[in-house]
Amino acid sequence: MSLKDNILEELKNNRDFISGQALADKYNVSRGAIWKSINTLKKDGYVIDSVTNKGYKILSQDNVISSDEIKLYLGEYSNNINIRIFDSIDSTNTKLKSMATEGAPEHTLIIANHQTNGHGRFGRNFYSPSQTGTYFSLLLKPDFNITSATLITSMTAVAICKSIESLTGKTPGIKWINDIYFDNKKIAGILTEASTDFETGMIHYIIIGIGINISTKDFPDEIADKAGSLGENISKNKLIASIISNIYDMYYRLPDSGFINTYRHYSIMIGKSITYKIKNVTHTGTVTGIDDFGGLIVLSKNGDTVTLTSGEVTILSF
Ligand code: BTN
Repeated sequence: MSLKDNILEELKNNRDFISGQALADKYNVSRGAIWKSINTLKKDGYVIDSVTNKGYKILSQDNVISSDEIKLYLGEYSNNINIRIFDSIDSTNTKLKSMATEGAPEHTLIIANHQTNGHGRFGRNFYSPSQTGTYFSLLLKPDFNITSATLITSMTAVAICKSIESLTGKTPGIKWINDIYFDNKKIAGILTEASTDFETGMIHYIIIGIGINISTKDFPDEIADKAGSLGENISKNKLIASIISNIYDMYYRLPDSGFINTYRHYSIMIGKSITYKIKNVTHTGTVTGIDDFGGLIVLSKNGDTVTLTSGEVTILSF
């Protein structure tokens, strides 16, 4: 454990003030080193009171991601989960991919407060500023083949919507296939990545990456008109735990895909005019439904019905 983590543990275990000298003596470092770690913890979002001649006391751990708190909310699902929290990382998906290659167990959950190279589908950047969002990836090693894996993204979208609805009381929407909208703005995205055995089609592992804007206000110009946030008062720990347990509720029932009805309920696509691409040719059509595997059923302008299973669509008017 780093000095900062040790100090955090000490503060959490002490309801009263603890002096800088006592901490310095215990960890065999200077008081200056303690002061530096305290400042880093403050930057991380912890509210710490510092009083001359008394020392330090933790006042609030509001919206600071804590594996203990997440496990508490996870209940029965906390037993085999293995959580790692990073202050800043390139991408939780990239990190988890390299950990999976090195044999990380199923149910490893990587969470970051900031990503320097967060990305979405088609290699696009996912804006992941420090503290104002939450970015996490879960490792699953399902015993089924890649065709069932396509349901994982739809299942995750449902999990996120249910959690947001229960925490905010407002109904979010899913823009096929992996974008979550709230008050007509995109507030979350999902990037599901899989490693499969080419011969058998069986899955080595799946990584579900989720990025949610919680209180981000200033977005880069290119996404400023369509990106939004959930709201300041959302507890990150509750939100993460709720999403993970919703995912598990559905994951353990696969290949039962009954949740597709809930996906349909949250979908903002039905009846919308869209453009979509097949083999790099752009088509126009109207969405008529979602099939039982999460595919988008579209009545094209020339009268054919097509079911899209991947790719990206653009809604012509919301
Ligand atoms: C999208 O909008 O196309 C998907 C965005 C997915 C972003 C999440 S944030 C956590 C995980 N790490 C990444 O680099 N991407 C996913």
